[in-house]
Amino acid sequence: MSAQAPLAPAPDRPIPVHPPHPGKPRVVQNSLRARLNRLLLARWVQPGLVLICLVPLGWLLFAAFTDRLGANPAEALIRASGDWALRFLCLTLAVTPARIGLQLPTLARLRRTLGLFVAFYALCHLLAYAWFDMGFEVDEIARDIAKRPFILVGMVAFGLLLPLAATSFNRAVKALGAVRWRILHKAVFGIAVLALLHFYWMRSAKNDVAEVVVYALVLGFFMGWRVRHAWQDRPGREERDAKPAQPAKPAEGQAAA
Ligand code: HEM
Repeated sequence: MSAQAPLAPAPDRPIPVHPPHPGKPRVVQNSLRARLNRLLLARWVQPGLVLICLVPLGWLLFAAFTDRLGANPAEALIRASGDWALRFLCLTLAVTPARIGLQLPTLARLRRTLGLFVAFYALCHLLAYAWFDMGFEVDEIARDIAKRPFILVGMVAFGLLLPLAATSFNRAVKALGAVRWRILHKAVFGIAVLALLHFYWMRSAKNDVAEVVVYALVLGFFMGWRVRHAWQDRPGREERDAKPAQPAKPAEGQAAA
């Protein structure tokens, strides 16, 4: 879910490199990065990523049609599609830290596709639940929400995903304007929190939250990274930091050193 910003540095401009790791010559890092950046720009990367993202769906369909989903196939499908929605959410949130940390600007190209697959697997999850568990009965679903509020939390998360998916195309970015688009897409952090709450609420009823803790740590890391980065990049920070510190006022009666 990303605007397609200028992705690759011009070929004649060196890729900016932070202080190199000791023992690794800068030129090697530069050329490896340049190669990776170029590779990520290749035409086959996007279709290749789409194919990879469809593998879990392919596996689930194969398993469903060959009786490999265990004793409760409906539950297995609902759970697996929910798990994949959450995994793609983690991957989507990993793109920006990886792009900046590894200095691979072209990684940004992958974010929109990964984000769309969060919405896609969440839709599969919703459909599997509404079909296999509820038989598409709206009254049944309403009763279930009243009985198990974590379902409502999942629905709110899904509802928030929809505008993000709908505005992840270049035309929508242009129509909204970059600033509004960026503000809207900050909702991804709210979605992550709601998805975790949904997962935790469901699993805590079964006293089985170990997996939830792992996802919380992963998502917490990526969100913490973004907060730290935004804080470091806040407007005017460089000027403020460059100002010499004001000498402390000597206390009354005390001579300044
Ligand atoms: C569209 C609204 C949603 C509905 C109706 C819904 C419904 C459900 C239900 C019924 C379960 C429990 C299955 C069971 O009892 O075995 C579940 C589990 C789960 N859902 Fe959702 N959900 C929704 C949205 C989401 C979203 C947006 C995400 C993530 C981005 C998500 C991730 C999960 C996960 C990770 C689980 C636990 C799977 C496991 O135990 O391995 N759900 N959901």
